[in-house]
Amino acid sequence: MDIKSLVSQLTLEEKAGLCSGGDFWHTKAVERLGIPASMVSDGPHGLRKQDQTGDHLGVNDSIKAVCFPAGCAAAASFDKDLIGRMGRAIGQSCQHEQLSVVLGPAVNIKRSPLCGRNFEYLSEDPYLAGEMAAAYINGVQSQNVGTSIKHFAANNQEHRRMSSSSDADERTLREIYFPAFETAVKKAQPWTVMCSYNRINGVYASENRWLLTDVLRGEWGFEGYVMSDWGATADRAVGVHAGLDLEMPASGGVNDRKIVEAVRAGKLDEADVDLACERILNIVYRYVENAKPDTPWDLEAQHALSAEIAAECMVLLKNEEGILPLNKGDAVAFIGEFAEKPRYQGGGSSHINSFRTTSALEAAEGLNVTYARGYDALADAATDAQIAEAVAAAKAAKVAVVFAGLPDAYESEGYDRKHMRLPECQDRLIEAVAAANPNTVVVLYNGSPVEMPWIGRVKAVLEGYLGGQAVGIATVKVLFGDANPSGHLAETFPLRLEDNPSYLYYLGEGNVTEYREGVFVGYRYYDKKKMDVLFPFGHGLSYTTFECSGLRLSADSIRDTDTLTATVTVKNTGDRAGKAAVQLYVGASGGEIIRPVRELKGFEKVALQPGESRDVAFTLDKRAFAYWCEQIHDWHVETGDYTVEIGLSSRDIRATAPVRVESTVRLPAHYDANTIFMDLKKDPKAMAAIQPMVDAISAAFAPSGDETDAAKDAVSDEMGMAMLNYMPLRGILSFAGDKVPEGFIDQLLSQLNN
Ligand code: BGC
Repeated sequence: MDIKSLVSQLTLEEKAGLCSGGDFWHTKAVERLGIPASMVSDGPHGLRKQDQTGDHLGVNDSIKAVCFPAGCAAAASFDKDLIGRMGRAIGQSCQHEQLSVVLGPAVNIKRSPLCGRNFEYLSEDPYLAGEMAAAYINGVQSQNVGTSIKHFAANNQEHRRMSSSSDADERTLREIYFPAFETAVKKAQPWTVMCSYNRINGVYASENRWLLTDVLRGEWGFEGYVMSDWGATADRAVGVHAGLDLEMPASGGVNDRKIVEAVRAGKLDEADVDLACERILNIVYRYVENAKPDTPWDLEAQHALSAEIAAECMVLLKNEEGILPLNKGDAVAFIGEFAEKPRYQGGGSSHINSFRTTSALEAAEGLNVTYARGYDALADAATDAQIAEAVAAAKAAKVAVVFAGLPDAYESEGYDRKHMRLPECQDRLIEAVAAANPNTVVVLYNGSPVEMPWIGRVKAVLEGYLGGQAVGIATVKVLFGDANPSGHLAETFPLRLEDNPSYLYYLGEGNVTEYREGVFVGYRYYDKKKMDVLFPFGHGLSYTTFECSGLRLSADSIRDTDTLTATVTVKNTGDRAGKAAVQLYVGASGGEIIRPVRELKGFEKVALQPGESRDVAFTLDKRAFAYWCEQIHDWHVETGDYTVEIGLSSRDIRATAPVRVESTVRLPAHYDANTIFMDLKKDPKAMAAIQPMVDAISAAFAPSGDETDAAKDAVSDEMGMAMLNYMPLRGILSFAGDKVPEGFIDQLLSQLNN
């Protein structure tokens, strides 16, 4: 299809019309020219295709579909292939259901454990979020349907989500809040991007030309169309110029007319409208020309796939005395309503109408398992009788497994959590059960970290997250050893909410939220502060053990234009097959830039039989060592020493190797009379010119060596050096005035600055 010529045949009114949805879920058709409508649908972890009344809150019904593990769980797999498989399955469902685009992945950074939508998001770490998002997108799009990576950008709270401004400095945006989008665009070219509701440094994402055009398209090379989040459009004409192609869902024609008026009034270039139409139609036709409505959608097979994926996402947080896996013959008490009715997805636009749900209780059929309800999730309460029944069940069993987690009301799209605790009745239940039976295991179904005041009194904790409709199957497989847990935390579990770096500023004041913790989000903060955490980023146990050894780098010194290969040997040293999530971190040692201790720059999931070992290689390029330099508005590597670390969590580093990286870029320097000597020293020309004066000043500050000159000797070498280092250039007038020729400083500065 020749899209340009098609657009040239459209009237201005038709073009303006194409820039907003025809209804809640469709782009507009133009019958006169045979342009079809195309349908989009939520997303991300399955289809929420609505046939009847549309809504973006997950309220009205949608077709029966398969709910895969939500983002919080999927990311914990640390497995790109796995999330790619999930994407392919979702892409096939889209083809079957004639959807051009599924609205996901949702990749906003988990700045605080309180964000109501963390369950949908992937990680506190931008590298992990980006790699997993790219894998999901490549999976979906391999089926010739599109994705909509969302919500671009810095949409990290639900509170005032349609008006709040996320105020962050350039470096923080570039290092923390943008890379998941950047990586996805560069590695997977999503067909569409969804801009967020919020403002960024005062400007609505939907009107932000820097964001949607300069960065997204200009720098990263995005080729698809940008759609608004549902109702995120403010000034539509400004939005068109900014690069917001499609307004969703629609404005009843009001904004279409505004586009026409703006063009007629000379306030908006018609070429901007043409461009938006071209981008939208490119994608509409990419779908139409590749549509395969006869693609089968095997719900049963996807239910099984969902169970398989969920098992790979579960994170074994604690396993004292190897209490897990359980023996199949043992008497086990399942306690807690979530054993019978699992919470496996979150509330809001991602809410899927599952065709089937399998609970752990159902999946445990045939095993020696009893059940006590323990609490009532909907009522958020436990009666004394329920607790007594649970205690009796725990006493009668060899092992008590308490199913706990967050009820629907605790976390959802649309609002944030108020605290980081489990419901009080569940904490009480766990304490009571643990007091009754020393062999207590806790299974958690929640979308975001919780505090665990009882952690010292239970033997094991299995974090199941919101694992999708087949989570019960996965849970039983892991509990009883038919699957070996291999999930790792994609976020830190702090000991208490107050430890979180965003705690002081989260949610902000009125419509402004300042991101004052800067780049120190998640483990970047906890590690820098050497703080104890409940469970660190990257943590996850297995029923087997792994060894990482022989870390070798392809060079011990590189330039920032080179790549570096790091290879490590990973061995399964236990007696069960298992999967290791090998993590590579890079840290800058020394240097002037304030940086995290370590940052994730590579990860691989490796399956190993008992005794088997394998080499895992990672390639690191400039980005692995760079920080965002606001001076040059670009990535920059400080020349210096770096550390490459291999770990099985951010706090379980198994091997370390140093590498020196030389920068090939010299930061432009500007000198004035207030430039201090320390900075002048970086420029050999400057130092040569002022050396005689420096010598004179040094002599004045140097210790005399004369025993009678006590005052002068009190000035140590170090102090003298500091005096000189921090002295501005103008200081040479004060301290070496007789050696400074007239006009010297001005001449020197004009010479240096040219
Ligand atoms: C959500 C999006 C979703 C859209 C359509 C919005 O409220 O923020 O993530 O895709 O609704 O349901």
